[in-house]
Amino acid sequence: MYESFFGLREPAFSLTPSPRFLWLSETHEEGLASLYYGVEARRGFVLLTGEVGAGKTTLLRAVIDDLPAGTSVAVVFNTAGLDSLDLLELVARDLQIQVPARNKASYIIAINELLLRRLETGQNTVLIIDEAQNLSPSALEEVRLLSNLETASDKLLQIVLTGQPELRDLLARPDLRALRQRIAIEHHVDFLQPEQIQPYLAHRIEIAGGRYDAIFPYGADQLFYSASLGCPRLVNQLADRSLLAAYSRQLRPIPLALIEQKAKGMQDMLPLDSSFMRRNSGEPGS
Ligand SMILES: Nc1ncnc2c1ncn2[C@@H]1O[C@H](COP(=O)(O)OP(=O)(O)OP(=O)(O)O)[C@@H](O)[C@H]1O
Ligand SMILES: [Mg+2]
Repeated sequence: MYESFFGLREPAFSLTPSPRFLWLSETHEEGLASLYYGVEARRGFVLLTGEVGAGKTTLLRAVIDDLPAGTSVAVVFNTAGLDSLDLLELVARDLQIQVPARNKASYIIAINELLLRRLETGQNTVLIIDEAQNLSPSALEEVRLLSNLETASDKLLQIVLTGQPELRDLLARPDLRALRQRIAIEHHVDFLQPEQIQPYLAHRIEIAGGRYDAIFPYGADQLFYSASLGCPRLVNQLADRSLLAAYSRQLRPIPLALIEQKAKGMQDMLPLDSSFMRRNSGEPGS
C-alpha cells in the first residue's frame, strides 16, 4: 500500500516469520547454529526458548528451508490441545507412515521401523515442535519416548523443542526430569540490543528494496528500542504503523514525533513480566 512511496518493492515489516528477512544478531546466529549442529551432528534433543516475538519460529523456518538433502522433517507448528496420540499421528503423517490401527503401539512400531530404514541408508530424520510450551506433560513424555528410539551408536530421531520461557518452567517439573536430562543443546533467543535496532531495520528495508536513510531519521532507533525493548515483532509493528501514518500524511523520512506517537499506542504489548526484566538486565539468578 505505502511501499512505493518509500521506495520499497514489498512490505518490509510483515509479522510473518519469513526467513528471507532474517538478520543475524549474535543471539539469532547462535540459535541457528545450535539448531543446525544439533540436527546434523545427531545430538538428539535441542531446546530453543525465547520470549514472545523474539524470532524462534523464523529461525525454525530458516533451518527447515536449508536442511541437507536426505533429511526428512516432521514439523508440528500448532500444539494447542494436542494429546500424545495426536502428536504421534502428526509425526506419522509428516513422515508418510501408514499404521494398521490408531493406537500408540502401532505408531511407535511404524515410526521406529521407518527410522531404522532411514538410518541404514544414511538419512537423518528430524522432529520439530514449535510452541512446545502448550504441550501437556503426558505429550512431552511421549516425545521423550520417541527420543528413546536409538541404536547402540546413533540417535534415530533428532528432536527440536521450541517455545516461550514457560517451556523451561514446564521442563523443570520433577516428572519431566528424564526429558530435561536428555537435552543435549539449548539456546535462549534474546531480544535485540539497542545498537542492533538500526541494522535490523536497515536489513529488512534493504531486502524489500529500499534504503534506511530515506525512511527513518537519525535517532529513530532509540525510540524503537524504548518502545519495543528490542522485541523484533514489536519493532516490526511500530515500523509498519509509522510507515502507514507517514504515508497518509505524505511525510518522508518519517518524523521522530510521529514514531513516538505510534509507540504510545503499543505500551500494552511490552513484556513487563518481572522474570523477563531480570533476564535482560543481567541480574543474578537470570
Ligand atoms: N533475527 C531476525 N531477523 C529478521 N526478522 C526477525 C528476526 N527475529 C524476529 N524477526 C521477525 O519478528 C517477528 C516475530 O518473529 P517470530 O514469529 O519468529 O517470533 P517467535 O519467537 O516465534 O514468537 P512467538 O513466541 O509468539 O511464537 C517476525 O515478523 C519475524 O520475521
Ligand atoms: Mg513462534
